[in-house]
Amino acid sequence: MSSSASPQSAQILTEEQGLTFPPGFVWGASTAAYQIEGGVHEGGRSASIWDTFSHTPGRVLHGHTGDVACDHYHRYRDDVKLMAELGLKAYRLSVAWPRIQPDGTGPANQAGLDFYRALVDELLEHGIEPWVTLYHWDLPQALEDAGGWPVRDTAHRFAEYAELTQRALGDRVRHWITLNEPWCSAFLGYGSGTHAPGRTDPPAAIRAAHHLMLGHGFATQALRAAAPDHEVGVTLNLYAVSPQTDSPGDADAARRIDGLANRFFLDPILRGSYPADVVADLAGVTDFGHVRDGDLEVVATPMSFLGINYYSRHVVAAPIEGVEPEPYWRAQSSWPGSEQVRFVTRGVPVTDMNWEIDAPGLVEVLQMVHRNYPELPLYITENGSAFVDEVVDGEVDDVDRVAYFDAHLRACHTAITSGVPLRGYFAWSLLDNFEWAWGYTKRFGMVYVDYDSQLRIPKSSAKWYTEVIRRNGLAAQ
Ligand code: FCB
Repeated sequence: MSSSASPQSAQILTEEQGLTFPPGFVWGASTAAYQIEGGVHEGGRSASIWDTFSHTPGRVLHGHTGDVACDHYHRYRDDVKLMAELGLKAYRLSVAWPRIQPDGTGPANQAGLDFYRALVDELLEHGIEPWVTLYHWDLPQALEDAGGWPVRDTAHRFAEYAELTQRALGDRVRHWITLNEPWCSAFLGYGSGTHAPGRTDPPAAIRAAHHLMLGHGFATQALRAAAPDHEVGVTLNLYAVSPQTDSPGDADAARRIDGLANRFFLDPILRGSYPADVVADLAGVTDFGHVRDGDLEVVATPMSFLGINYYSRHVVAAPIEGVEPEPYWRAQSSWPGSEQVRFVTRGVPVTDMNWEIDAPGLVEVLQMVHRNYPELPLYITENGSAFVDEVVDGEVDDVDRVAYFDAHLRACHTAITSGVPLRGYFAWSLLDNFEWAWGYTKRFGMVYVDYDSQLRIPKSSAKWYTEVIRRNGLAAQ
């Protein structure tokens, strides 16, 4: 045990029957508005970039859209009842910005606020603490038409929306997450174009990343000023990154990808500076002329916690000498300035997303964050896996998903016993849902959704998780 381990972690180590988590550990599940709500034309909601993108032929597998999704907009009462039956203590939902501000600006739309007030009331009545993400990728299309995240004004618009939402829900909601995974919004949305709005413009992706973080900073200032007792954080998707071999070239590849995936967001938000090596890697892409004096102080506004989404590890290797990346790949890369890095597979078991299953990577990520940015309470705001699920006699026995959750919760426990201040875990996801560019073909839920009938079937993993929450830990193996 590290010397920084708290007495609390010593206490959980002495538990003989399985692994017990610290008292008060938050057990939850996550979803996102566009992935589950449907009701896209109701309550005055306007189009978001994901409506436009999913309705553009060729963008989403099989032309799937979020028009209906899990119909949660109409079924939220039953869904909350289900959450209560599962024993969830917390639920991370996201608010759809175009329900609150259909044009991305101006006064709040009452019907939109009413929906979330009703949802939050339902949660509280069932003893479930709402954790609200303000931006899980559904930018109002009107703001994209005005330039989107590459434009500075969007950061101000976001802070305004955050304030409006807090004003309406702040008597009921105490936990706020400004952004979900700004890496995806910036680099998939504006770099590779595989996510909405589908632009392939690397310099715009770098500007988008900056304005997302600036928006986070402005919003954090506003939320904390209005309600100093509220907890405000951001959620980043962090990866374990390792080189394929110990060659200097592979080490440099790992430095580059760790730089863009992790440090490009952690450093500005937690230290108020961009990592110098990544800025140098990006020299051919941008001169960072969009960063104004004082911006980084705003970006680094103190937060109450950091949310981490963890799914997998990147194993990377140096470019093969003499082989230039395809021009197509260079133009459409989600790794601007480092397009030549090769992502390699190790042949270890993967999920249905083809993501390598790597629970030790979660220990690495948690310890890396704690080592480099100490003192900050951490939450796993997403962790989970897609597998091909089959309904047999009305049941879904998702043993692979149970194994995935179990291994990753053991990793969380290992991190806690080594002194990492991990305070909670939100499984991704409560329900099978619209998995972005993969449409409904990938199932991440603990609860199976039959999209024709909208029937919900709790899978084995849901029943297993109920037991984890009940005992505040894992049974002996
Ligand atoms: C994350 C997203 C979430 C979901 C999972 C599988 O990147 O935040 O909405 O799609 O991946």
